[in-house]
Amino acid sequence: MIRVLIADESRQVTDNISRRLALEEDIEVCGTAGEGEYAVQQSLWLKPDIAIVDAALPGLDGVQTTVMLAQALPATGVIMMSMEAENDAYRQAMVAGAREFLQKPFKGDDLVAAVRRVHAFGERRNVSAARAISATAASPAASDDGVAVAPMRQRTRGVVTAVISGKGGVGKTVVAINLAAALGEKHHGEVVLVDLSLQFGDIAAALNLPTTHSITDLVSDSGITDADAVRQVLASGPAGISVLLAPTSPELADYVQPAHITSLVETLRGAFEHIVLDTPSYLNDATISSFEVADHIVMLTDLSVTGVKNARLTRSALETLNIDPSKVVVVANHRESAGELDRRGAETFLGAHISTEIPFAADVVATSVNKGVPFVISHPTSPPSVAINAVVELIDPVSQSGSDTAPDGESSDKKKKTRRKLSFSR
Ligand SMILES: Nc1ncnc2c1ncn2[C@@H]1O[C@H](COP(=O)(O)OP(=O)(O)OP(=O)(O)O)[C@@H](O)[C@H]1O
Ligand SMILES: [Mg+2]
Repeated sequence: MIRVLIADESRQVTDNISRRLALEEDIEVCGTAGEGEYAVQQSLWLKPDIAIVDAALPGLDGVQTTVMLAQALPATGVIMMSMEAENDAYRQAMVAGAREFLQKPFKGDDLVAAVRRVHAFGERRNVSAARAISATAASPAASDDGVAVAPMRQRTRGVVTAVISGKGGVGKTVVAINLAAALGEKHHGEVVLVDLSLQFGDIAAALNLPTTHSITDLVSDSGITDADAVRQVLASGPAGISVLLAPTSPELADYVQPAHITSLVETLRGAFEHIVLDTPSYLNDATISSFEVADHIVMLTDLSVTGVKNARLTRSALETLNIDPSKVVVVANHRESAGELDRRGAETFLGAHISTEIPFAADVVATSVNKGVPFVISHPTSPPSVAINAVVELIDPVSQSGSDTAPDGESSDKKKKTRRKLSFSR
């Protein structure tokens, strides 16, 4: 039985919601409250599975109530409802720790669906937590004071590839998606694509994915260090890849701090063989964090004068940041059919070797984006797919598929050769 508490100043609202939920056999309204403090008290007493909280509660308002519930009763999933338009209220609700947001007036069916989603999410988290506890108990790696030191899944550390550029619109998202999908075909179920273009992430749209969960969910409930909590918010993408989506609206981006990105990537390294990061084209602390955690940086540029100029500036920034130049591969994307610098001129201006060129292919790329299917899957033998596979070969050489993918194991000659190929130095 899913036990629900409803908190709203209006008796009519709590009655209406109670009546609608009473129609469901597996949902029970265990309490109601007309103001914030009472809602918290009742919740502490009743420990509901779900609290439906109005943003405009008197006393403690809905956001404060949600913060208190999230801290005191992490197993209670909060659904916030509000008369306000989605953006601001939604941001506040999610940051406070709510799992779902309903804008009033809403349909009864939408309410029931939200209750079920939040409950299912909580159940999955409980199972994960139980597994974590039993893994800890059984773990020979528990430290003297009983604190688990081993991750739930033992594996070699995943390899992180960040796709970056100094100029917007040069094809980072297209390349990140296709790189991830190509890696996914080699390592089924072992690849995660992360949209770190936090303000205007495009991956959900480009892959036609539902935006039910995003990186925001992890930030608001400190789940970023728990591999199973992270898995709960991943979407399923093509070629068996998992996808962590960007926040659903730009103002939520600021809540993702550089430290979150570092922790998140560390968590993902323990759970996936390859982690591909799509980034925005501006430099800020969050973007810099992604440069620092990456084992490989695919620096994408077009061959316009401004594109190459910005690639050169980005290269200088990487040097200033002491990023190891041997982990950077420069890829030129011919996203325009004419008016470009030639390759040699661009390399001279950039002071770097261009490892791979992705040819202009409006039909293949546009069709792929419009249909939400990576071109490495829909057009596997097309020239852009061949180019993407050449980049994959640099970051994941065929001989290293499988277990020997540790980024810091510089053991084989093949890996050393790869490093040299990736180098900026000409
Ligand atoms: N090789 C190509 N041939 C033809 N068109 C391309 C090619 N590469 C990219 N494009 C086009 O460029 C558009 C922009 O690409 P994309 O969204 O991946 O850029 P971005 O660098 O991620 O942009 P932003 O900086 O806004 O995140 C794509 O929608 C696609 O239509
Ligand atoms: Mg993009």
